[in-house]
Amino acid sequence: MSGVPTRQVLVKAMRHEAQGVCSVELVPLEPHLPDGRLPPFTAGAHIDLHLPSGPVRSYSLVNQPGDASRYVIGVHLHPASRGGSRHVHTAMRPGDVISMAGPRNHFQLAEDAPHSVFIAGGIGITPLLSMMRRLNELARPWELHYAARTRAQAGFLDDVRELCLSGHGRLTLALDGEPGAEMLDLQRIVAQAPADAHLYCCGPAGMLDAFTTATDGIAPSRVHLEYFAAREKADTAGGFEVRCARSATHVQVRPGQSVLHALLEHGVQVPFACEEGICGSCEVGVLEGTPDHRDAVLSQQERDAGKTMMACCSGAKSDVLVLDI
Ligand code: FES
Repeated sequence: MSGVPTRQVLVKAMRHEAQGVCSVELVPLEPHLPDGRLPPFTAGAHIDLHLPSGPVRSYSLVNQPGDASRYVIGVHLHPASRGGSRHVHTAMRPGDVISMAGPRNHFQLAEDAPHSVFIAGGIGITPLLSMMRRLNELARPWELHYAARTRAQAGFLDDVRELCLSGHGRLTLALDGEPGAEMLDLQRIVAQAPADAHLYCCGPAGMLDAFTTATDGIAPSRVHLEYFAAREKADTAGGFEVRCARSATHVQVRPGQSVLHALLEHGVQVPFACEEGICGSCEVGVLEGTPDHRDAVLSQQERDAGKTMMACCSGAKSDVLVLDI
């Protein structure tokens, strides 16, 4: 990790939420100091944990947006964990002090939508929780279609049920690992959504692909999705030039190299964390040229606009990129 401002927070509590899912409550180290409080966050935001073993991992905030006294994240123990979720589940304990960055939000809630439809797969429930909390606060209607293998594996189910008690939300649960269960029919859910509804999806790649197909033809401004993992292979074809407008530095990106690493090699500092195109830390402005976007952060509209790119994974379709750095 480099260049990203971090703060230290205290692990105040950890809670079992479901099989393989725990929540972690993080609080400021010195809440009594003027700058001791946590920055406020909006629904759908995430933070990056900088884990002692090295990896940086992004986790959605699941508590009430605007709560500056604490951050709560939900962490699923990934079977193929390379150290992120495994560290949280097996080594992290209340009382630990850890570094974090953010919050950032690339999965914004449209707060004025007349109706919101949420589709969650597994731990994909986490960014949607803060959205449902916020809509309850605004007294706006929502529905959640939540898919999990079994009830025991469905994290934060009690929270969702409690949120439904407000009368603003409705839950449909699809447990595909339990007898007689039905799979979520995304085509039907999307077709039955009110014409002015905003639609959100967070879950595994197969679900996101099905959601993308089901929402084809709907105005992109009403369709929102978030990836947990790299969406595409990074573009490391190289063979183009990056010109840094502010520092007047010209950098040749070699084959096999990312824009980020080419810049760092020439002493141009760009903050970065995940290096997988997920967290958004390495976002840089594009003044000229055409990026080859490979991240999972920018929407299609933002990609098409070409005003910004993620330096860790995206390349160039033009011979030259002029960046606002
Ligand atoms: S470092 Fe995370 S998106 Fe580039």
